Amino acid sequence: MTRWFAAVVLAASLAVAAGGAVFAQSSSAEREPEEPTVFPEGENRDEVFYVCTACHGSDLVRAQGHSRERWAEVLGIMVEKHNMAPLEGEDLDKTLDYLAKAFPPKGRGYTNPFLNRSTAK
Ligand code: HEC
Repeated sequence: MTRWFAAVVLAASLAVAAGGAVFAQSSSAEREPEEPTVFPEGENRDEVFYVCTACHGSDLVRAQGHSRERWAEVLGIMVEKHNMAPLEGEDLDKTLDYLAKAFPPKGRGYTNPFLNRSTAK
């Protein structure tokens, strides 16, 4: 292999590698790693954070505000639809306590007219 040819091959492979790196970076699979501190302070915050962000970003959780009962339903959906390992006993209690405190129902006083209509008989 002549010297110039080796240089061209090297340059070409570097270009491919660089292109690959750019592509990998733009893939949505590459998320910024999150820290438990993105969740509000509270008892069991870290545990809940790690359970819930094993599958998705914390934003899905943070975007919502529910009562303890509704959070229990959300967890039911995670288990039934998304194959989350069911939480039981103390783990379930701690998780629900944290979620209900950290992400309580939003906009108290506002009732969703669509929800009302579906429950009115
Ligand atoms: C085994 C995987 C898994 C685990 C663990 C998990 N989830 Fe999910 N969750 C999902 C999937 C999959 C979705 C749907 C994602 C999407 O729509 O992009 C989802 C969506 C959600 C949503 C949005 C639902 C909606 O209708 O908008 C909330 C809220 C949520 N998860 C809360 C939680 C909480 C709280 C925990 C921790 C207790 C948790 N998840 C743990 C898989 C999981």
